[in-house]
Amino acid sequence: MLKSTKENISDGFYNRYFKQNAEFRFGVEMVQFLYFKKGKFLNPRKKDEYIEQYTKEEIENFFDKGELNIPQITFCITTKCSLKCKDCGSLIPDFNCKEHIDMSLDEFKQSLDKVCDAAAKIRRFVILGGEPLLHKDLSVMIDYAAQKENIDVVEIITNGTMIPGEAVLTAIEKHNKKAYLYISNYAVNKDLLPRLKHEEIKSLLKLHNIKLQMVDVMGWLKEFSFSKEASDFETTKARYKKCHCSHCTQLFNSKIYVCSKASSAIELGLVDVDDYIDIKNSKDLKQDFIKFYDKDYLKACEYCILSDVPVLPALQD
Ligand SMILES: C[S@@+](CC[C@H](N)C(=O)[O-])C[C@H]1O[C@@H](n2cnc3c(N)ncnc32)[C@H](O)[C@@H]1O
Ligand code: SF4
Ligand code: SF4
Repeated sequence: MLKSTKENISDGFYNRYFKQNAEFRFGVEMVQFLYFKKGKFLNPRKKDEYIEQYTKEEIENFFDKGELNIPQITFCITTKCSLKCKDCGSLIPDFNCKEHIDMSLDEFKQSLDKVCDAAAKIRRFVILGGEPLLHKDLSVMIDYAAQKENIDVVEIITNGTMIPGEAVLTAIEKHNKKAYLYISNYAVNKDLLPRLKHEEIKSLLKLHNIKLQMVDVMGWLKEFSFSKEASDFETTKARYKKCHCSHCTQLFNSKIYVCSKASSAIELGLVDVDDYIDIKNSKDLKQDFIKFYDKDYLKACEYCILSDVPVLPALQD
């Protein structure tokens, strides 16, 4: 049962659903205008006004029209990675000692079909890993996702160490008004420079008329994994509020998790909680999403250790 009404929305639902949708809508509309010449120019100085307006519209869409919109969802298609970062926020190197998980093409399509059927809109759809360029079916996945009419933009996140193959470039080029590549720029880590292929990737993208988003990653936070003890409600709520991953809803191994760190930890058995959406067994995915967003945080957050300790990005083990 939904705790919130239009007049009385709980903090969790307001922040995790309405505010996130408004913020992602603003971000996506900026990307669409700047990269794809779609829509209208949004003045960044008026961001707060837009967010207020979009939040109002989102509340009406949900309560009056029964519309569910997903601000962002990432699909982790592989735990294989070309790097082994000490402080990986997704705990991906921990899979090296276990078995790697690859999402099959069928699973990708079936899961995406279900998510797209449950939601009126997916504002930002992200494909990542590990390193997504290591997945043999990446090009087909991009093509499949970009054809979904209710997905606004498709982002593929790479660590910049691998050159995308012809099939991947062709797939993004085919949808180059919707799909783009995002490189996490680890150039600040001088030891990594010989492994970064930024210039080669940039010239290939130019040749294929593909947009690139590349943000300098200046600092990372040290990764401390999870504690054995759960924290209380107020402590966890405050932790979730300051967490930079709180909007990183992720589908991994057929389950929808609060973030990539929680998804890896639960799959690796580092945290013993079952707070996620089981997409294969969901009888009503739209309702399950609503219940998911109507929480202040998810159980994994009670065990999560966040840090304020800055570290050099992508330090290798
Ligand atoms: C886990 S990565 C997966 C995609 C790809 N392998 C990469 O590194 O870009 C997703 C994003 O999380 C960021 N990230 C990973 N560990 C982090 C940390 N400890 N602190 C801050 N950001 C982190 C990365 O920079 C990247 O942009
Ligand atoms: S941060 Fe990215 S590149 Fe580094 S280990 Fe994690 S997934 Fe791989
Ligand atoms: S488990 Fe919760 S607190 Fe920890 S990184 Fe994920 S969203 Fe943030």
